[in-house]
Amino acid sequence: MPEKIPWPFSRLFDRYPNRIFTKWFQRIAVDIKNRAISGNIVDIGTGPGRLPVEIAKQVENAKVFGVDMSEDMIKIARENAEKAGVGNRVEFRVRSAYDTGFENNSIDLVISTGTVHHLSKPLNAFNEIYRILKHGGEAWLFDGRKDCTKAEFEETVRRLGIEKDIPLPISVIERLWSKIHVGYKTEVFYSGKIGKAIRESLFEKYAITAQGAFIRIELRKS
Ligand SMILES: C[S@@+](CC[C@H](N)C(=O)[O-])C[C@H]1O[C@@H](n2cnc3c(N)ncnc32)[C@H](O)[C@@H]1O
Repeated sequence: MPEKIPWPFSRLFDRYPNRIFTKWFQRIAVDIKNRAISGNIVDIGTGPGRLPVEIAKQVENAKVFGVDMSEDMIKIARENAEKAGVGNRVEFRVRSAYDTGFENNSIDLVISTGTVHHLSKPLNAFNEIYRILKHGGEAWLFDGRKDCTKAEFEETVRRLGIEKDIPLPISVIERLWSKIHVGYKTEVFYSGKIGKAIRESLFEKYAITAQGAFIRIELRKS
């Protein structure tokens, strides 16, 4: 699997499954608002840009950026932001997670969903995130847990309120989840490739938490 998702897969990804995660993106945006985080927010591996769109809707004093290596994903993201009426509040750039182009110590929050498992060089990405974050800034990186239990999967779908948005029976999606390209087994995030890269990175403060069908990696720059 190549790192970036090019055309025409970008178009399929926009239609399904990215769209059904809109409620998840809304929850993350509300969380950012409730934590009173504002300023410069960057979504890494933004895909069709729905997370920056939801953040722009919720968080008034934020300038939201989305970066992705895929030219067509960035095109779709710009279209989605225009359609949502927040085109002037979000900015999308074709950049890689290893070289985002932002200034040192310039970003208040880095966010990412479903992209960590795409990274061939996670250590480089974590150190790039460290470089661009302001001191005291955080990164919230979410990815899939391929080995979550059936009960955890079902609880996540219920918690996100997306039962009706899924066009296939949940039992089918639940069985596919462990086989498709959605993340890693939990131990990869703790002690495997990703956990190792976090420990080797410039971040001294971090937390890795299993949350149902997802993993949440929180990195903090002191
Ligand atoms: C599975 S999609 C997730 C998209 C979106 N964040 C979501 O949650 O639906 C992963 C995205 O990361 C992008 N990507 C993969 N490796 C990347 C890298 N090294 N730098 C920037 N973007 C990358 C891909 O092009 C793709 O759009």
